[in-house]
Amino acid sequence: MKITFSASELAILKKIGTAAEELNMPCYLIGGFVRDKILGRETKDIDIVCLGDGIKLAQKVAGKFDHTPSVNVFKNFGTAQIKSEELEIEFVGARKESYEYNSRKPEVEKGTLEDDQNRRDFTINALAISLNSSDFGILIDPFNGLTDIEKKILQTPLAPEKTFSDDPLRMLRAIRFATQLDFSIAEKTFIAISENKERIRIVSAERINDEMNKIIMTQKPSTGFDLLYKSGLLKIIFPQMVELVGAEYIDGKGHKDNFYHTLQVLDNICRHTHDLWLRWAAILHDIGKPATKKFEPGHGWTFHGHEVVGSRMVPKIFNQLKLPQNDKMKFVKKLVELHLRPISLTRENITDSAIRRLLFDAGDDIDALMTLCRADITSKNRQKVTRYLENFEFVIRRLAEVEESDKIRNWQPPITGEIIMETFHLPPCKKVGDLKNVIREAILDGEIVNEYHAAFEFMMKKAAEMGVVP
Ligand code: CTP
Repeated sequence: MKITFSASELAILKKIGTAAEELNMPCYLIGGFVRDKILGRETKDIDIVCLGDGIKLAQKVAGKFDHTPSVNVFKNFGTAQIKSEELEIEFVGARKESYEYNSRKPEVEKGTLEDDQNRRDFTINALAISLNSSDFGILIDPFNGLTDIEKKILQTPLAPEKTFSDDPLRMLRAIRFATQLDFSIAEKTFIAISENKERIRIVSAERINDEMNKIIMTQKPSTGFDLLYKSGLLKIIFPQMVELVGAEYIDGKGHKDNFYHTLQVLDNICRHTHDLWLRWAAILHDIGKPATKKFEPGHGWTFHGHEVVGSRMVPKIFNQLKLPQNDKMKFVKKLVELHLRPISLTRENITDSAIRRLLFDAGDDIDALMTLCRADITSKNRQKVTRYLENFEFVIRRLAEVEESDKIRNWQPPITGEIIMETFHLPPCKKVGDLKNVIREAILDGEIVNEYHAAFEFMMKKAAEMGVVP
């Protein structure tokens, strides 16, 4: 196996090898960098393991650079890091580890290279390359990681129960790597994930959502969510999504399996956006369906109001998964609430006022909303799909026309709350809000033109009707 390094990588690796030799401390490249080199993926962080003190080695290596980069030392972990241009190089002494049952904190003891390879999560992450002058570039592969890369298989170097029990986050890493690399998980390894799933409870929500977000950012996240579901992990880390599973039948009438529909929408949207939060909107767009599901005799299954119920669930889910409670959450909430609006417009009711309202309600997120809506067209019935798509294209055209003429997207009505309070000598109160609303509605409905004088005149008329006098 010939691994090729770029000239700048080679220069850095040679510096590390020389520094290690001066300290009489054999050292090796290990982990993700080696794996990604073999796979031909872009590599970023370099992990170095040495038979000795990783911090000392890092300091020695730093001295070999002309510009002497700073060394970040993590004494508690016995590791050190150097940042050189775009590369991060991490140094650690080879170790044996044993874990306490209720925590992910290892108890660390010095070890050999083989001990260090043993304690790693997957055979494909346990490959090492020597940086020592006697055998520079040689691959050290005690667990046949190279064969597993060729066969596209993820498995643990030790018995999987031990590897997962030591660090349960690895169960999610297995599923994440399988999704990112399009690998399969060896049967024994997958069974061990299912059997150890409860251990995921000792992992922090932040770590879990970090892995989940990595799955979501792959080309085909459905692979990962399907594995999360089948292993039983999804039920523990994100139970609301499991509620979507299954199709119920009454009187021969069924509804679609909303879990697999959601995964299809998610894969669809991934072809059109790399925005993590828009991808989250796809995951959550139908999350309100289980709570609103009803069978109406003679009619079939309905999910009335699922978009409103679903959008109300978004803050709670973000909180539970420790995702940010900020504008990103509000964006997802808004998209879930509006996701039916564009497609519910039929040719007959695509009036200028309906389009203006959609533009006003979606504001700057209209393009994201239309991307979600397009991804949501997944019926097996070809005729239905064709009809929805035609309708969708029509709505897109009308949105562009109305926006061109009315500029509603970032629009603020010409009469502000301040103008109302000044005109009628009112403090901030409900009446001000009511008047603002009727003016906005009248403009969106096309009842009056979008202009100050017309709006002012309308305000005076409505205020009189409401008994508000200047
Ligand atoms: N590792 C491990 N168990 C973990 C995390 C990491 O055994 N829970 C080991 C693996 O050998 C891994 C290496 O530490 O290759 C580096 O970890 P990390 O940087 O987190 O992962 P990478 O494999 O580099 O992949 P990615 O950057 O995509 O997470």
